[in-house]
Amino acid sequence: MKYTAPRGTHDVLPEDAPVWQALERTCRKIFELYNYKEIRTPVFEMTELFARTIGESTDIVSKEMYTFTDRKGRSLTLRPEGTAPVVRAALEGSLIGKDKFTKFYYFGPMFRYERPQAGRQRQFHQAGVEVFGSADPLLDIEVIALAEQIFSRLGLPDLEVNINSVGCKKCQPEYNKKLKAHFRTHLDDMCENCKQRYEKNILRVLDCKETACQKFIEKAPAPIDSLCKECKTHFDQVLKGLDEHKLVKYKINDRLVRGLDYYTGTTFEVVSKQLGAQNAVCGGGRYDDLVAELGGPSLPAVGFAIGLERLVEIIKSSVMIPRSKLGISLFVVTLGEAARKFGFDLLLKARKAGISSDMDYSGKDLKAQLKSADRVGANFALIVGDNELKSGKALLKHMQDASQEEIKCDAATIVGKLENLI
Ligand code: HAM
Repeated sequence: MKYTAPRGTHDVLPEDAPVWQALERTCRKIFELYNYKEIRTPVFEMTELFARTIGESTDIVSKEMYTFTDRKGRSLTLRPEGTAPVVRAALEGSLIGKDKFTKFYYFGPMFRYERPQAGRQRQFHQAGVEVFGSADPLLDIEVIALAEQIFSRLGLPDLEVNINSVGCKKCQPEYNKKLKAHFRTHLDDMCENCKQRYEKNILRVLDCKETACQKFIEKAPAPIDSLCKECKTHFDQVLKGLDEHKLVKYKINDRLVRGLDYYTGTTFEVVSKQLGAQNAVCGGGRYDDLVAELGGPSLPAVGFAIGLERLVEIIKSSVMIPRSKLGISLFVVTLGEAARKFGFDLLLKARKAGISSDMDYSGKDLKAQLKSADRVGANFALIVGDNELKSGKALLKHMQDASQEEIKCDAATIVGKLENLI
């Protein structure tokens, strides 16, 4: 039996790990610059949390959740997204409330049972932010600016922000009425799913990918044409702010309703021309009703999540982050038992001094050990045999240009010398 990673999952191998690390470092640094604080939530939650917030008739809840029953018969679900868990945790920990203004960020794996393809996995990773406590359009702009700063710090080209407003509780019923009127006459020619969506949650018809339904979706009315006065003013202020601060290249995309039900007002996605069909590297928006829906006070909120696999894909294809070498500073090459003991002691001291180092543990000969030093990208190899120990002189090889120098065979001297060289 040959074991493979489950379909739709992948391993991050050591050669790719530096790209992931650089990505996470950059996100974290910029999140902190904007005064966001990290929050970590469990990878599974009560199923009800997602069903209520993302929406029963969304693709995520109706067909993509990894749901299981635990030994006590509770229904649990591997988180398909991070927003609902953050709201749950913030309420549970009394972190958000009427007079509090709170900003969170998170990293972590998410799980959706989707058909895997390039840029779409069943386990994928997100870096996200959520801000609670203000309906100020400046905050919508801030989160978009934050995403933009991450992407420009990473040097990602060809990105565009698609932006829309899906309205609030006041204007959504009006829009839903218009959608119903539009689709009513075409319903017989639409797919079975859409017929159900028409009854249960008309907005979700816009998510349909069936060719038969596409031509009717293209002609559907847009939510921005049904916005109430407050939503229209808010959206105009967001766009004006984006223009004034010259933050990003954006395009109003009046079809952008997003695949989760909790949005109110601004929605946005950052798309890359370098990716195929799955081209959204970031998605987010306002969700001013969600906190109250989960039993908290009425508290406006806005946030986004970045899909890290998709970013890694772009970074790897355009090699913009110098793939920091896996290399270490020192590889200790030894010949003979006494030298091996000396070498191991040197390693411990070098590492205590902050010098990354390693040696051979499989009894290879001198030539093979030097090859290992080369393979792990060591900057220096310290060559020491029992004879060198006796004479008190070892060899320090500079791996870059293969030059060698004699050095006193004493751990403190070698560590001191390397500290100066590195
Ligand atoms: P989302 O648009 O579902 O939003 O996901 C955000 C990002 O995660 C997408 O733009 C994409 O880059 C990545 N992503 C989603 N599904 C997959 C997948 N199957 N494989 C690989 N990458 C994927 C949310 O999850 C919201 N919680 C975002 C949010 C935060 N809204 C407000 N606050």
